[in-house]
Amino acid sequence: MTTISGKTNLVGLIGWPVSHSVSPPMHNAAFAALGLDWCYVPLPVPIEPADRIGEAVRGLRALGLRGANVTVPHKQAVMPHLDWLTPAAQAIGAVNTIRVEPDGALSGDNTDAPGFVADLREHGVDSSGKNVIVLGAGGSARAIVYGLAASGARKILIVNRTVDKAASLANQMQALFPNCAIAAQPLAQPLADVAEQTDLIINTTSLGMTPDVAGLPWEPDVKFSAHQAVYDLVYNPPQTRLLQKARVDGAQAIGGLGMLIWQGAIAFERWTGVAAPVDLMRRTVTEIFAKR
Ligand code: ATR
Repeated sequence: MTTISGKTNLVGLIGWPVSHSVSPPMHNAAFAALGLDWCYVPLPVPIEPADRIGEAVRGLRALGLRGANVTVPHKQAVMPHLDWLTPAAQAIGAVNTIRVEPDGALSGDNTDAPGFVADLREHGVDSSGKNVIVLGAGGSARAIVYGLAASGARKILIVNRTVDKAASLANQMQALFPNCAIAAQPLAQPLADVAEQTDLIINTTSLGMTPDVAGLPWEPDVKFSAHQAVYDLVYNPPQTRLLQKARVDGAQAIGGLGMLIWQGAIAFERWTGVAAPVDLMRRTVTEIFAKR
């Protein structure tokens, strides 16, 4: 643990609740390992009253913090209180990383998208030129589709229970990325035909997440194959029903813990300007989950 002094640089996590978050121990272990005089603290901000979130964001600057991560339910709510947004945060419509810039401006970024792409790469999957199915069209799906299109995916099919949401996300991202063919389809429509020509399948829905561990965002009878990778953003449980099926069918199965680590590692680098000790961050998070 960093020894706090009068010169310690502070960052934190804005969310509600934040008490179970692994981000404080993950970042503090990284600061300590590199001997950086930085500290990461929980910053719980309730939803009510509504003006609290604005006060909290402005308070980062007023109190001399260097920045913050933002998590559920405030990723959108912080946006109007920031001075500027990166193109990624603007397109995704959510901020997970705030920086207090040297001139005092508050900038909003989204490291979920590059964090996801970095984790895919770490697993040997290059999304460039790939045909992808994204299951879900909520907040996480927006970051995933952006990350995939920005990293050169050839085709993205967004499959969602509420097809209108998938269509609207597809239209918005298609306008930004003309070289990627982005389409939408309802979850109820059979997947067998399109699945065959797909390289990568990504679950961004909450199906399969504790306590709904029986949830499966895929037709049980449609097999995955050895040339496919299946990525589940859900990391609790680590082995979702979808990942179990992927493994049984012979596909590469990747859980969502790596994205959590990489989005943190990229935020770490944006704040400190120093390369994050990713392996140490992963070990820290893995140990915490092993004890839960
Ligand atoms: P997140 O920020 O984690 O993406 P979200 O924005 O609430 O959370 O999105 C949840 C996603 O899971 C949505 O795509 C949602 O589908 P709808 O848009 O139709 O609501 C999907 N989802 C949640 N529960 C589901 C269920 N029981 N069956 C199918 N899809 C479900």
